Formats: sequence, structure tokens, C-alpha cells
Amino acid sequence: MNEHLFPEIEAATADRLIAAAIAARRMAYAPYSGFAVGAALLATDGQVTMGCNVENASYGLGVCAERNAIFHAVADGVRDFVAVAVVTENGVTPCGACRQVLAEFNPDMVVIVGDTAGNRRVYTLRQLLPDAFGPSDLGRP
Ligand code: THU
Repeated sequence: MNEHLFPEIEAATADRLIAAAIAARRMAYAPYSGFAVGAALLATDGQVTMGCNVENASYGLGVCAERNAIFHAVADGVRDFVAVAVVTENGVTPCGACRQVLAEFNPDMVVIVGDTAGNRRVYTLRQLLPDAFGPSDLGRP
């Protein structure tokens, strides 16, 4: 965690967000891939919303942890995200579809990825999805 690069996210906040993503990952329903993912979104007011991946016997109907978290938060009336933590066994970054859905709400969101060994890496969403298509391309603010 580099607090100088990302002063808006304090180390304690990142710890809290990673802990929430670890807890969410325990809820993953991933019997087909065996790849459990947990995500936790941080809103500007400090609220944390969790999501896990949910697979389906009709494989294409599964949803990733990050999008599950976003949809859950939006349904709760929360849209102003500042960071997301994603925990997997091997510390992967969010898939392309999830990057796009995260970017809809804040293309400058901080993305913290963690693995089950406790390693972390920090990105901005803009690094992971440069030159993204977004609301402004449709004339939206
Ligand atoms: N998965 C996520 O939940 N997030 C990602 O960013 C990558 C992939 C899930 C989808 C599927 O349930 C499993 O991981 C394997 O692809």
C-alpha cells in the first residue's frame, strides 16, 4: 500500500476494505470454476458494500464479485465510490467487464487487489482501463 501515491485511502481504511473483501469471498458461490472472489466497495461516506462471485449451472449467467458489489450498492442508493478491494487466491485484477462497470461510477477509483497470502497491489481504475468509454461519450455529465 503506497499512501503517498494514494493519500485519499489511509492504510487503516485499506485494511478494513481488504478484510471486508476477504469476508465477502467466503460467501462466493463458485462450484464450477472453484475460483472464489470477494469484493468490497468504499463510498465517500465510509460505507462499505460487499460482493462475491455467483456462478450458475448455465455458465454464462454467473456474475463477478465486483459487479455484484456495484449492483448491490446501487440498489442500496450508494453510487459515490472511492475505492474497491478485490481478494482472490492469486491476487488478480478485475476482469474487463468489471472494469467497465466500475468506471461508470468513478474512473479514478482506487483498486486494491489482494491475495490469500496477504500480498497487495494498488492501482487506479484509470490505469487498468485507460481511454475508457463512459457516460460523457453519450453526452452525460
Ligand atoms: N471473477 C470475478 O468474480 N471477478 C473477476 O474480476 C474475475 C473473474 C469470477 C467469475 C467466475 O465466477 C470465476 O471468477 C472464474 O472466472
